[in-house]
Amino acid sequence: MILVTGGAGFIGANFIFDWLSINNEAVINIDKLTYAGNLQTLNAIEGDGRHHFIRADIGNRALLSSLLAKHRPRAIINFAAESHVDRSIYGPDEFIQTNVVGTFNLLEAVRGHWSGLAKDEKTSFRFLHISTDEVYGSLAPDGAPFTETNRYEPNSPYSASKAASDHLVRAWHHTYGLPILTTNCSNNYGPYHFPEKLIPVVILNAIASKPLPIYGDGQQIRDWLYVKDHCSAIRRVLEAGKVGETYNVGGSNEKTNLDVVSTICTILDELQPRNDGRSYTEQITFVADRPGHDHRYAIDARKLERELDWRPTETFDTGIRKTVAWYLANQEWTDAVTTGSYRQWPGTHYGD
Ligand code: NAD
Ligand code: TYD
Repeated sequence: MILVTGGAGFIGANFIFDWLSINNEAVINIDKLTYAGNLQTLNAIEGDGRHHFIRADIGNRALLSSLLAKHRPRAIINFAAESHVDRSIYGPDEFIQTNVVGTFNLLEAVRGHWSGLAKDEKTSFRFLHISTDEVYGSLAPDGAPFTETNRYEPNSPYSASKAASDHLVRAWHHTYGLPILTTNCSNNYGPYHFPEKLIPVVILNAIASKPLPIYGDGQQIRDWLYVKDHCSAIRRVLEAGKVGETYNVGGSNEKTNLDVVSTICTILDELQPRNDGRSYTEQITFVADRPGHDHRYAIDARKLERELDWRPTETFDTGIRKTVAWYLANQEWTDAVTTGSYRQWPGTHYGD
């Protein structure tokens, strides 16, 4: 079996669905269930004997050590993190605790477990750390997309904490020989994305007749990847990635924020027109800019394409259309998230 951390979050849950849809290997899912962890997301695999959920903090080294000894996974995929840049600006503490100290404790638990394995198990074991393109900092408008050898220049408390975790993972390989892999991916979007991030905020605000908040002038650029394509890249790196290496993951879909929001409005105008017949673009509202807002991210994913033969299947046009349609069709999930009732779900569903 494999062990996934943060599997009740956006990418982790999508990864578990993707994994179980194509193979029978069981998944242990360890998640602290912060505000971003949502067990309702995992309803689709309720009762599936291949998925075992355990509520735990990656910072709880003793518990992790006992779980590793009991379940003996062949690989760990570390998604667990505080992930929202704006929250990191207003309250960086949790970002340091989970992304830095938590990753450190996880690495130590894994190292203890891994050192005691028999030689062949030790050789085939993998620790895959999921990271972000934001560790590379902000690109100039004409700068070449980030490659794996770009300098780390994180600018937000979020990206600085992720950069720190990447460094720890690297050092645990270099110093102790832990068989690690790291992926640095661009902005993801798709089903089950928590509505604090741009794309779900815009879709849900639009249909709730609320303003569509664009920070600053909306000319910042992000490189968007459909979440299922990120999942296939992770599977590929786990399967064939070279130990100790980093792989950048992206879909070459650079868009300004204003373009992204306008595209969503156009799709909504078609799929669920406003009652007054006017365009959702009328709800666009320019608001104060994010402090220290990175201007541009873009990923050069050619190493992953060349060495592991990975390619994304969705373009931004196909992926964003699927995403908007998913939010329109899954109102139960979005209502639970926007009203906060999803937070009562573990107690209601699992008792203590
Ligand atoms: P998310 O915020 O939706 O989910 C994070 C999950 O981790 C939640 O379920 C949360 O409960 C859990 N978690 C948080 N702290 C924990 C702790 N101490 N112990 C155990 N579980 C904990 O995040 P996401 O968007 O799914 O991102 C997953 C990973 O991918 C993160 O490491 C993030 O940095 C990285 N990443 C995200 C993006 C993106 O666009 N969302 C892009 C590149 C990389
Ligand atoms: P976000 O989804 O928070 O991802 P990240 O900051 O990790 O790239 O934001 C994507 C872009 O959209 C970013 O440039 C900030 C901007 N943004 C807005 O303009 N309005 C919003 O309400 C949000 C949440 C983000």
